[in-house]
Amino acid sequence: MFLGTQRVNEAGHLEIGGCDALALAREFGTPLYVLDEETVRRKCRALRAAYEKRYPSSLMLFAAKALINMAVCRIMDEEGMGLDLSSGGELYTALRAGFPMERIYLHGNNKAAWELELALEAGVGRVVLDNEREMELLNALAARRGVTQPVLLRVAPGIKPQTHSYISTGQIDTKFGLGISTGCAERGLAKAMTLPNLQVVGLHCHIGSNIMGLDSFEMAARMMIRFAAHLRDTVGVVIEELDLGGGVGVRYTADDQPPSPEDYAEAVITGVHEEVEKARLPHPKLLQEPGRAITGEAGTTLYTVGTIKDVPGIRRYVSVDGGMSDNPRPALYQARYSALAAGDPLAPAAEVVTIAGKHCECDNLIFDLALPAVQPGDVLAVQTTGAYTYTMASNYNRFTRPAMVLVRDGQAELIVARETLDDVISHDVVPARLAKTCCCCG
Ligand code: LLP
Repeated sequence: MFLGTQRVNEAGHLEIGGCDALALAREFGTPLYVLDEETVRRKCRALRAAYEKRYPSSLMLFAAKALINMAVCRIMDEEGMGLDLSSGGELYTALRAGFPMERIYLHGNNKAAWELELALEAGVGRVVLDNEREMELLNALAARRGVTQPVLLRVAPGIKPQTHSYISTGQIDTKFGLGISTGCAERGLAKAMTLPNLQVVGLHCHIGSNIMGLDSFEMAARMMIRFAAHLRDTVGVVIEELDLGGGVGVRYTADDQPPSPEDYAEAVITGVHEEVEKARLPHPKLLQEPGRAITGEAGTTLYTVGTIKDVPGIRRYVSVDGGMSDNPRPALYQARYSALAAGDPLAPAAEVVTIAGKHCECDNLIFDLALPAVQPGDVLAVQTTGAYTYTMASNYNRFTRPAMVLVRDGQAELIVARETLDDVISHDVVPARLAKTCCCCG
């Protein structure tokens, strides 16, 4: 499987964004996150186009939790995307990258006062309210500044899509948002309307992540419009904006068959149109906030192969120079990946191996991968690592977090520098009483 601009070049090596993967590994070291700019931009454009032609009043947001750094914020701005942010740290990154604040939607189930202050100070477009405590807090902070903050209310529609339970969020038993069927969402909305420094403009839901089927997206869209109609009739509010979250899956392996942007837009928008007409509602502005579907397939992680261990008759472990600190997804969600031998991706498979990390854990990255025979020093390219890898990376075992390069038209530019060992200890503080003293200076 080749994704995005991946291909085999004249030297027989894997090429991404016109750059030879072996040359990237040599120049920037491994592990290395490689981000294919053309693919990121194409995904943004395909999703925007699929929506805008069916539903002109729409805005595509990028869920920055999937991949955020200042260069990515710049690309999203150039592509006319908004940003779905979930913390003060993400907001600070977007601010420093000069991202237009009116296209920011700030999420979070437990936003701190400082995060709401930062949002008000920056003038973010929307705060997506999660609960009643937050409404009161935001209202008080906005009143103190003498401003009115436009808000959406996050609701839990009561839909459980087919995905890993850790990333399923639309059901009633969730920490996110106010439930429709429990009556909490209606009560919450009525309350928000009484708070003078909040301007309620709409509703939000997000049912889960890495979803391959379209049914749950369409069902969520229909339920949200019906709920909007119910709120018009009971609370008397007009829902001007409807944000239906993200969640579209990607190809981690050749078996995965995610919906195309066209099919996704068609299913959701058909649901919206039909329900809007039935309920005689004005068409709300429609938002989606995909993360994985935009950057997932655009990312590749290059590793260098080290130890190869045979457990006779059972398994061959091929260890690479990274692992759960740069990609915790296999350990957390039993996520599956595919990989190519970067030096000869077209060579026929010679063996089935397990790709192991180098952490002091059983941090296998890929089980049972068919690969050509590999040797220590070879470069392995794990695909579809552009979402929820760099943003979930850690310094476990005091590993330095990898660099990230942006590749395009044969150019490779560093967008995140590799951490150094000094970076890793830079926040350690040794109290004076524990300081190591030497024998000559006492
Ligand atoms: N909107 C909201 C409110 C979300 O909570 C999420 C993801 C998204 C949008 C974007 O979802 P996407 O389009 O990327 O599926 N760390 C997990 C994924 C957690 C997703 C959390 N929320 C993983 O590695 O699979």
